[in-house]
Amino acid sequence: MPNGHPSLYASITTLALLLLSLEKCEPRYHYHKHHSSSPKFNSGNQISLPPASAPAEPPSMSKDINTTRSEHRVFDVRSYGAIGDGSSNDAQAFRAAWKAACTANSSVILVPSDGVFMVTSTIFSGPCRPGLVLQIDGVVMPPDGPANWPAADSKKQWLVFYRVNNMILQGGGTIEGKGQDWGLTEAHYPGLATALRFFMSYNVTVGRLRIRNSPQFHIKFDGCEGVHIEGLSISSPSFSPNTDGIHIENTKSVGIYDSIISNGDDCISIGPGCSNVDIANVTCGPSHGISIGSLGVHNSQACVTNVKVRNARIRDSDNGLRIKTWQGGTGSVSGISFEDIAMENVRNCIIVDQYYCLSKQCLNQTSAVWVTDVAYSNIKGTYDVRSAPVHFACSDTVACTNITMSEVELLPHEGEMVDDPFCWNAYGVLETLTIPPIYCLQEGQPQSLALEDIPAMGCS
Ligand SMILES: *[C@@H]1O[C@H](CO)[C@@H](O)[C@H](O)[C@H]1NC(C)=O
Ligand SMILES: *[C@@H]1O[C@H](CO)[C@@H](O)[C@H](O)[C@H]1NC(C)=O
Ligand SMILES: *[C@@H]1O[C@H](CO)[C@@H](O)[C@H](O)[C@H]1NC(C)=O
Ligand SMILES: *[C@@H]1O[C@H](CO)[C@@H](O)[C@H](O)[C@H]1NC(C)=O
Ligand SMILES: *[C@@H]1O[C@H](CO)[C@@H](O)[C@H](O)[C@H]1NC(C)=O
Ligand SMILES: *[C@@H]1O[C@H](CO)[C@@H](O)[C@H](O)[C@H]1NC(C)=O
Repeated sequence: MPNGHPSLYASITTLALLLLSLEKCEPRYHYHKHHSSSPKFNSGNQISLPPASAPAEPPSMSKDINTTRSEHRVFDVRSYGAIGDGSSNDAQAFRAAWKAACTANSSVILVPSDGVFMVTSTIFSGPCRPGLVLQIDGVVMPPDGPANWPAADSKKQWLVFYRVNNMILQGGGTIEGKGQDWGLTEAHYPGLATALRFFMSYNVTVGRLRIRNSPQFHIKFDGCEGVHIEGLSISSPSFSPNTDGIHIENTKSVGIYDSIISNGDDCISIGPGCSNVDIANVTCGPSHGISIGSLGVHNSQACVTNVKVRNARIRDSDNGLRIKTWQGGTGSVSGISFEDIAMENVRNCIIVDQYYCLSKQCLNQTSAVWVTDVAYSNIKGTYDVRSAPVHFACSDTVACTNITMSEVELLPHEGEMVDDPFCWNAYGVLETLTIPPIYCLQEGQPQSLALEDIPAMGCS
């Protein structure tokens, strides 16, 4: 057996059987008009190598600012009264340091490496003078559990940056969310705090930092434009509910690179109002994968466009690449590409779920967020056989259109293959053969949808 991997051996055997069945069945098969050579498809008995070389360790940020240089004025939180003993409330000192640094040019707020700073919920407001760096070299944490939070503090968010422009958050330290003190094993608890939130901010860089055990989302951006994330490391237990790693909504021009995320919910989630999102070199897992959605809740309009995910690795996750929308929404998800993704033991590797519903009692509705122009290419690896690896559950009334797939090869991680991908009202093209074979995508355009009349379902 090769390399002592029984599952790999089983996979190869399965693949051989699969290839035999492919020959017999002659699946619907399209050559893309731009392809000059025939599609690459293994005729041998081994699967191709996983495509991604996403990081195992977050490398240091290429743009790391050297804050010890003379052009920076350093505002050490200790100089403003922070104790850093892990129990004194250092929030006032952090606020004072912020206030002083915010009004000076090229400031560095330093959280030194030899301290553990307990900081209660705080909103750091801008705008500030250009060149502000928050350098976290030590540990920053909230009070132990919600009962110890001051009564006046919002329990929905912990550290908030509001109207900050051109700011950099970096450092070799840790944001420790102490999520275990919030009863993480309980079901959805609406009061849980987001650890870090950037709200209505522009040109924000977050790099080389650890964020751990958030009670809820680890880092969230809303109403922002120009976000660069690099070398971030996020971890919380796989059983912790709603602990999304990076969540963005109403945010444009986002780059997420070289980061490692393991948590109990979406690795990266992209909410309504996002466009121009570039994600590369990210490793997720355990997690719930990379998700666009949920969109269209309470009959809302949602627009998400131009999202590119490339060179990612997703392992031991409940979903891989997911688009989820509620019934009754409007708007569209368009121009999405997933490229060079390695899967390892992932349930629902590729999934569009337009029937997303938390209560399981959602009524059928006629409107839906239109999902169109979604490309999957070079998606390889293994799936958890508890669900079909490919699942397109599109709206009854608004079909998914122009789904393109090439070089999709997914094999069971362990056990028997699930060879029936699911498609409902999904239109698109297979540019190469896929494993498992996906016969269920429909050709052409749905008759029910006059696409010319509703170019992007109200999204500009
Ligand atoms: C940062 O700048 C200081 C002062 O100019 C210099 O001594 C140090 O080597 C620099 N560190 C790095 C990592 O470049
Ligand atoms: C900040 O820099 C600008 C541009 O160089 C300068 O005009 C301004 O006086 C500086 N402000 C402070 C507070 O140093
Ligand atoms: C953000 O950065 C872009 C590109 O560097 C620049 O054009 C834009 O003016 C910046 N926005 C703000 C609010 O500083
Ligand atoms: C991704 O990682 C590879 C290999 O480390 C590197 O060559 C490439 O520049 C990275 N891409 C991005 C967008 O960070
Ligand atoms: C919604 O429609 C599906 C498919 O037609 C049907 O199976 C299901 O029972 C309907 N659900 C409700 C709540 O009406
Ligand atoms: C289908 O989607 C791709 C991007 O995935 C796009 O380049 C192409 O123009 C779309 N085709 C049609 C007919 O809209």
